Amino acid sequence: MFSIDLAEDARMFPLEARHAQEFFEHIERGREFIGQYVGFPDRATDLDSARALLAKYAATAGEDGARFFGIRLDGTLVGGVLFPTFEAHYGNCEIGCWLEPDAAGRGLVTKACQVLIDYAFGERGMHRVEWHAASGNKKSLAVAARLGMTREGVMRENYLHRGVRQDTEVWSILSREWAATRSA
Ligand SMILES: CC(C)(COP(=O)(O)OP(=O)(O)OC[C@H]1O[C@@H](n2cnc3c(N)ncnc32)[C@H](O)[C@@H]1OP(=O)(O)O)[C@@H](O)C(=O)NCCC(=O)NCCS
Repeated sequence: MFSIDLAEDARMFPLEARHAQEFFEHIERGREFIGQYVGFPDRATDLDSARALLAKYAATAGEDGARFFGIRLDGTLVGGVLFPTFEAHYGNCEIGCWLEPDAAGRGLVTKACQVLIDYAFGERGMHRVEWHAASGNKKSLAVAARLGMTREGVMRENYLHRGVRQDTEVWSILSREWAATRSA
């Protein structure tokens, strides 16, 4: 299995069903913080449902679709990034992210997203990478801005989360824009 250095003490790697135990322990530590805006912690409520979630993403990864990557800090799983959608045929994908609170504020997600975007554009010839975040999720919107993405607009009350309909901002970056950012 490959893993990629994000920092001296941090690595990212494909998150698979066999990582269910550490994934569940990580979600337990971060459940409240991560679950504020993200739906999957509510679907990983015990070890079996955590394993089923990872197995589902491993299966779609096998079909070149959605996939999960973990981030370990000093050997402990503290968060991750994902392609919630990955449509190589159309040249479009979306990136998402999460961290447990103690791992925030170090740039880990920004660096992991840079790896995913390099992969999407550089290796897979994608044209467009999207970012969807609740309008109130300022930390997530700051990551999109830090990555050089452009805010495109708002899907009004499109996301029902924990009984509340939230607005979702859509941001994106195109292949040529990423190349210009990288060369600058
Ligand atoms: C969204 C989320 C992952 C952002 O976490 P984050 O720690 O702010 O993001 P990063 O890991 O990229 O770190 C950026 C922060 O580290 C700081 N930082 C330190 N070193 C850095 C570096 N080398 N590079 C970039 N940023 C660095 C930045 O200044 C920034 O801090 P600030 O917001 O106080 O200015 C986190 O808030 C989270 O998990 N929220 C709950 C789940 C969620 O909402 N997921 C997104 C759904 S759309």
